[in-house]
Amino acid sequence: MKFFIDTANLDEIREANNMGILDGVTTNPSLMAKEGITGEQNILQHYVDICEIVDGPISAEVISTDFEGIVKEGEYLATLHKNIVIKVPMIEDGIKAIKHFTKKGISTNCTLIFSAGQALLAAKAGATYISPFLGRLDDISSNGMDLIAQIRQIYDNYTFDTQILAASVRHPMHIIQCAEIGADVATVPLKAIKALLNHPLTDSGLEKFLADYAKGNS
Ligand code: E4P
Repeated sequence: MKFFIDTANLDEIREANNMGILDGVTTNPSLMAKEGITGEQNILQHYVDICEIVDGPISAEVISTDFEGIVKEGEYLATLHKNIVIKVPMIEDGIKAIKHFTKKGISTNCTLIFSAGQALLAAKAGATYISPFLGRLDDISSNGMDLIAQIRQIYDNYTFDTQILAASVRHPMHIIQCAEIGADVATVPLKAIKALLNHPLTDSGLEKFLADYAKGNS
C-alpha cells in the first residue's frame, strides 16, 4: 500500500519524506487555508514547493465546478510539474472533465467519494485515483471501511485500473484496515503515520537491550 501525506504543511511533508516511506501528497482547499496559503499565485507556488520536496503524485484540487472551468484550471495545474494530479470533485461536470483529462493523459483524483456508485462512475471515466472519505462517513455513523471493501470488490470484478486512495483517514486502525482490504493508497495526516511506530513492548524491549549492553560494556 502506498502512503500519501494529507497536508499542505511543508515541515510535515519534509518530515514524512525524510522517513523514506512517503509516496505522494494530497491537499485540498481547506488544508491550504489551514496553512494560511491564500491567493491564486501563492497556492500555485505552494504546489511547486511540494513537488520539489516529494518525488511522487501531488494532488492539486480545482475550485471550478463547471466543465469548462475544471478543464481550464486542471490543464494549467498540470503544466506546473509532471507529478501534479488534478483533483476533481465527484459531480457530473467533474466526471466529464475526468474523461477529458483521461483522453489527454492527465492524471486525476476524483474526490468527495461517499458511495460505491460514485466510485464506479469515476472508474468508468478513467480516474487515476478515487478518494473515498472514511472518517467523514464514520462521523455520520456510516461505516467508511465497508465502502472501501465494496469498491475493492467492484474494481476487482472488472479489473479497473483506478486506484483506491483512502482519504479522511483519522487514526492508525484506519490505516491497518485499509491495508487488510487492499486499498491501493492511504492518505494520512503525519500524526497517524507516526502513531504506527508506537508499541510499549518495543519501548521496554529497547530499554532492556540498551541497559544490558551498558552492563556488559561498563
Ligand atoms: C484528501 O484527499 C481529503 O481531502 C482529506 O483526506 C479529507 O480529510 P478530512 O475529512 O479529515 O477533512
